[in-house]
Amino acid sequence: MMPTLSFVEQLARGAGTILRDGYNSEHQIKYKGVIDLVTEIDHASEAYLLKEIQSLFPDSHVIAEESGETKGVGTGLWYVDPLDGTVNYAHHIPVFCVSIAYAFNGVVQLGAVYDPMRDEMYIAERGKGALLNGESIRASSTTELTKSLLVTGFPYDTWNTELDNFKNFEKLAKMTQGVRRLGSAALDACYVAAGRFDGFWELALRPWDIAAGGLIAEEAGARVTAVDGKPDYISTPQSILAAAPGIYEAMWKQLN
Ligand code: IPD
Ligand code: CA
Ligand code: CA
Repeated sequence: MMPTLSFVEQLARGAGTILRDGYNSEHQIKYKGVIDLVTEIDHASEAYLLKEIQSLFPDSHVIAEESGETKGVGTGLWYVDPLDGTVNYAHHIPVFCVSIAYAFNGVVQLGAVYDPMRDEMYIAERGKGALLNGESIRASSTTELTKSLLVTGFPYDTWNTELDNFKNFEKLAKMTQGVRRLGSAALDACYVAAGRFDGFWELALRPWDIAAGGLIAEEAGARVTAVDGKPDYISTPQSILAAAPGIYEAMWKQLN
């Protein structure tokens, strides 16, 4: 049995409620790396999602950020980011979401990204367009970098890696209206889908960060690839370039 988009949406809303209800509490922060942290609410949201998925789709594989991979005998695969934007959340900055995608035979088919603080639900089913709170959304029609507003992100090993993205940031910040850093890759991709940002790139992500947002951006008419232009932006190494079609080439040139 294939899940429906409304089931994925329902999951995202349920997890989003956990994130919103826990937002004002004093968080128990644990460190996965020097600047990579996790709160008790990441775990609560993930536990809820895994329980719901496994009770209805016990055969599916699940790749979830905090608990890793749960193998299943079927060909369905879920990507679960229970809280995308954890550093914002831990600092009580209301920019975060839950991100859930479902892939079948290796292709992402369904995606939902929910921002509970703005009550914004982004959903997409492959081939059927993308919606924000039930309304169809489109990537922007911008054709010039100078008229574009972009967004990017930086990895948790940014202190120690050559892939720190700073040179790209500097270059594109000097050719555009600006480059934002919101701190939630899934929302970054959805904001491209909604035409708020004209383009998003990031160099080192994990599949759960971008499986849903990437599909939503594709279905909204954005061009979505790895930063080097290869079509697969979900397998290793997971970089993403999601842009309005009119500036995709120009962004690609600057990043390659
Ligand atoms: C992070 C956010 C951030 C991105 C990082 C991600 P998390 O996910 O999406 O915007 O720059 O690379 O790891 O840890 O908040 O789920
Ligand atoms: Ca994430
Ligand atoms: Ca996360």
